Amino acid sequence: MTRTFASIVFLLFIISLHGCSAVTYKLSKDNTTCLIVETTATASVSYTNSNRQKLVATWPLGEAAAISGQCESETKGQASLNLTFADYWVHMSFASSGGKASLAGIELFVTVQNGSRFLSPNSTGGLLLTASPKLPLSADTEHFACASELRLPFGQPGGSALVLSATKIQAFGVRNGSLSAKFATCALDARSSVPSDSTTAPSNTTAAPSDTTTAPSDTTAAPSNTTAAPSDTTAAPSDSTTASTDTAAPTNGTSTAAPPTSAVPTTASPEPPLLNFTVFNSARVPCLRLQLRASLSILYRLKSGGNATVKVALPADTKASGDCGNSSQTVQLSFMQGWRSDLIFVKKASGYALQHLAADYRLSPALFPNAAEPSANRSAFGNGTYFSVASGTAYYSCRSAETLRLDNFVTMETRDLRAQAFRTDNSSAEFAGSMEQCLDDTPIDNVVPIVVGAALAGLVIIVLIAYLIGRRRHSAGSGYQSV
Ligand SMILES: *[C@@H]1O[C@H](CO)[C@@H](O)[C@H](O)[C@H]1NC(C)=O
Ligand SMILES: *[C@@H]1O[C@H](CO)[C@@H](O)[C@H](O)[C@H]1NC(C)=O
Ligand SMILES: *[C@@H]1O[C@H](CO)[C@@H](O)[C@H](O)[C@H]1NC(C)=O
Ligand SMILES: *[C@@H]1O[C@H](CO)[C@@H](O)[C@H](O)[C@H]1NC(C)=O
Ligand SMILES: *[C@@H]1O[C@H](CO)[C@@H](O)[C@H](O)[C@H]1NC(C)=O
Ligand SMILES: *[C@@H]1O[C@H](CO)[C@@H](O)[C@H](O)[C@H]1NC(C)=O
Ligand SMILES: *[C@@H]1O[C@H](CO)[C@@H](O)[C@H](O)[C@H]1NC(C)=O
Ligand SMILES: *[C@@H]1O[C@H](CO)[C@@H](O)[C@H](O)[C@H]1NC(C)=O
Ligand SMILES: *[C@@H]1O[C@H](CO)[C@@H](O)[C@H](O)[C@H]1NC(C)=O
Ligand SMILES: *[C@@H]1O[C@H](CO)[C@@H](O)[C@H](O)[C@H]1NC(C)=O
Ligand SMILES: *[C@@H]1O[C@H](CO)[C@@H](O)[C@H](O)[C@H]1NC(C)=O
Ligand SMILES: *[C@@H]1O[C@H](CO)[C@@H](O)[C@H](O)[C@H]1NC(C)=O
Repeated sequence: MTRTFASIVFLLFIISLHGCSAVTYKLSKDNTTCLIVETTATASVSYTNSNRQKLVATWPLGEAAAISGQCESETKGQASLNLTFADYWVHMSFASSGGKASLAGIELFVTVQNGSRFLSPNSTGGLLLTASPKLPLSADTEHFACASELRLPFGQPGGSALVLSATKIQAFGVRNGSLSAKFATCALDARSSVPSDSTTAPSNTTAAPSDTTTAPSDTTAAPSNTTAAPSDTTAAPSDSTTASTDTAAPTNGTSTAAPPTSAVPTTASPEPPLLNFTVFNSARVPCLRLQLRASLSILYRLKSGGNATVKVALPADTKASGDCGNSSQTVQLSFMQGWRSDLIFVKKASGYALQHLAADYRLSPALFPNAAEPSANRSAFGNGTYFSVASGTAYYSCRSAETLRLDNFVTMETRDLRAQAFRTDNSSAEFAGSMEQCLDDTPIDNVVPIVVGAALAGLVIIVLIAYLIGRRRHSAGSGYQSV
């Protein structure tokens, strides 16, 4: 807003309130409901008080004084909801693309004044916070359900945020004034229901299918429609490259920043953890499975004018969601507070291929010291057939290290990769059908040296025999004993 708010410091963590009952906000035009958001929401705004203490104002969103917005019928592919309360408003904008809905943007406007929310704030007036979470929700004909707490941060992670829980959202395709029966659950719910022995409290809504009613042959995998169950790799993240937080001061001389012009990571970072993802279709059949160790290498500009490369491992707590389309299938990996990487598989006349890669990341000061554009949000995209599988029922395997190139000087490095998309097989096998290997894994590389080596060894023996025979003849002729 204005420079009066330069003092607002986004550093505090959020204290979210639990136990409030969900409120339903319905947007109607011409007596027809077109958009429904049911949630228990909390707004958190960090600010500095007159004693220069950093505080956070947190309050639950109650019944809105006024609901306005736009229905999809008015603006094709878009919809929005504006909840106006006494001294603040919350605006959510939704986008529909390719039949999929997403939460495109959120805005929170609050009038900062000394009172119940803000205690002696060091400056007063209107404060507008915005964010573009681009959060995938569900298909347009379904509603999105997320019992877990969903944090939508404004600006820096750990700062101001809108926190939603026990959420159901449908911004497109609302019929008869109620949510569609079909729904897609969020990855967070899938994860929290994975380990039954986990200490996290199980969520308690109608959206969360009970663990006991169904006994899927394979797994631990979360019983959710169009959702991915993240891996069983509950091991504590050991990846030192990603462990740092945004508040850690960057130090000079850390090995993450390469000298100018270098495009090669200088750290010999530990091996990234093995990640394990499944995307289910509406019939709860896994359509896509992906297992890999992955890291992103990102080139960025330094203040000094040079370049540096940082390598970031995808951590063990990477979450996934996805989509089981007929012609393309996607797994979306979310990690490190707002980072995202999408792998898009496309069906071919025969078989399928990994055809697109995308990465969204942030030049956080902790990971990207001395960046010319600190905290900038970036994205990279990659086109091209990264690998293809000739048979539609086979899976791909590549244990070797591979480098997948995106634009913006980003590469994804993978190891121990196994992938299967467009799977229709409901067996419990982790990967079904035959295996197609990458070139680097195939034994050809070994066969060639073995053949060459064997030929050379044969040649040496022949030469040696010829030499010995010649020598024997020679020594027999000369009458001397050979030694
Ligand atoms: C508010 O606090 C910041 C430091 O947190 C300080 O720089 C600024 O001068 C303060 N503004 C007022 C009006 O006190
Ligand atoms: C909406 O409902 C009101 C009251 O029930 C009715 O008078 C009005 O005609 C309705 N409008 C439409 C567009 O159906
Ligand atoms: C939301 O509604 C309030 C009050 O009607 C209005 O002042 C504000 O501009 C609206 N916000 C958006 C983003 O439309
Ligand atoms: C804010 O209000 C409290 C009482 O409600 C008062 O003690 C305090 O001095 C006020 N602070 C400012 C900066 O006006
Ligand atoms: C909802 O609308 C459909 C047609 O769009 C209709 O067939 C169905 O009976 C309606 N359901 C209810 C509960 O009104
Ligand atoms: C689950 O929800 C029901 C009804 O909403 C409530 O009575 C119960 O206390 C909840 N259980 C837990 C563990 O939250
Ligand atoms: C970090 O390095 C830059 C460039 O070499 C230098 O200008 C700066 O003073 C250093 N900062 C610290 C804290 O050492
Ligand atoms: C930094 O990288 C960019 C893009 O690769 C390149 O154009 C530029 O020349 C590099 N700068 C230095 C100093 O190496
Ligand atoms: C990956 O997940 C599948 C199914 O959820 C499970 O069978 C398999 O053991 C897991 N593999 C690893 C390495 O965690
Ligand atoms: C998934 O979708 C199918 C078909 O739409 C439905 O029958 C099933 O109940 C859904 N499962 C869950 C867990 O929502
Ligand atoms: C996907 O394929 C199924 C079965 O072949 C078909 O019923 C469905 O309509 C297709 N969906 C789309 C979006 O093409
Ligand atoms: C990717 O390829 C598509 C067409 O194949 C093209 O439209 C798009 O611009 C390409 N994107 C990039 C980033 O190269």
